Amino acid sequence: MYDWEFPEEQLTYSTGVIPALYQLVELLCQKDEKVLMLSPAYGFFQHAAEYNHVEYVCSKLKIDKGHFSIDFADLAEKAKDSKVKVLIWCNPQNPSGNTWSEAELKQVADIAVANDLWLISDEIHCDLLRSGLKHIPMAKAEPDYDKLITCMSASKTFNMAGLQFSDIIIRNKELREAYIGRDKNVGFYNPLSMAAHQAAYEHGSEWLKQLKAYLDGNFRFLKDFIDKNLPEAEFEIPNATYLAWVKIGPCIPEIEDWPGFFANNAGVLLEGGDDLFVGNAKGYIRLNLAMPRAIIEKGLNRIKDAIEAYKKNK
Ligand SMILES: Cc1ncc(COP(=O)(O)O)c(C=O)c1O
Repeated sequence: MYDWEFPEEQLTYSTGVIPALYQLVELLCQKDEKVLMLSPAYGFFQHAAEYNHVEYVCSKLKIDKGHFSIDFADLAEKAKDSKVKVLIWCNPQNPSGNTWSEAELKQVADIAVANDLWLISDEIHCDLLRSGLKHIPMAKAEPDYDKLITCMSASKTFNMAGLQFSDIIIRNKELREAYIGRDKNVGFYNPLSMAAHQAAYEHGSEWLKQLKAYLDGNFRFLKDFIDKNLPEAEFEIPNATYLAWVKIGPCIPEIEDWPGFFANNAGVLLEGGDDLFVGNAKGYIRLNLAMPRAIIEKGLNRIKDAIEAYKKNK
């Protein structure tokens, strides 16, 4: 699917990308060392650092009306800190849903190489791109760097997170042996999970094609709804994931806690803000569009009504 191959011996497993991140940070960082990431970030990148009692440092993504780009100068500066040992990278990115070009991936890898960082590329969303787009693994953009680790799974794409299985591709032999040696699941992988992943990869392509077409429609529906009903909000359809990262703040600038606002006033549970997404996320909400369009429509109408009612009663 990606025109990319790797030697079979590099393949290891985990009961999930989160457990793998926890374990990798433990193996790669001493207690006074640091992990680097881009923000906003998937909250468990931060938790992987906190779980291991190491500091985390963020380079803020530049966000311009729903378009995301890397502040390379800032990332390079932060990577220079001699205490930074690991860069946790997200490709495609959660929560923005952004994909990265081969040139961007290469530039990020160059920064990791220049500073001798371990580069963990979390690619769990790799198979959920908009129809017609193709995932570029970091490992393809950077074919030689020994300190690269790639995390993938069929769990997001085929809705199998409950089966707890992921592929952790570790190039460095020593790390691979240490990782397998410290495996907290003592080698237990559920045979049903393995069979399900194999079945998904071998036989799931037609289902995935149809799923992606439906998701594409959900994103178009959301975009039209926002443009028509919430014109102050900022949103562009992302290239990947089933997640929509919406700047809702301008609709009512004084609201601090948007998830709380929608839980209490709209009966809609969603995520957003700095607490869950590490930083650079104030005024943003993340909508999960992996559901029937009728439910999305109902949720969006409740969101719109709650905003209108608040403005009216002000
Ligand atoms: C970027 C990213 N990594 C990891 C995970 C979770 O991985 P797992 O269920 O394999 O632990 C998620 C789930 O939301 C995610 O978005």
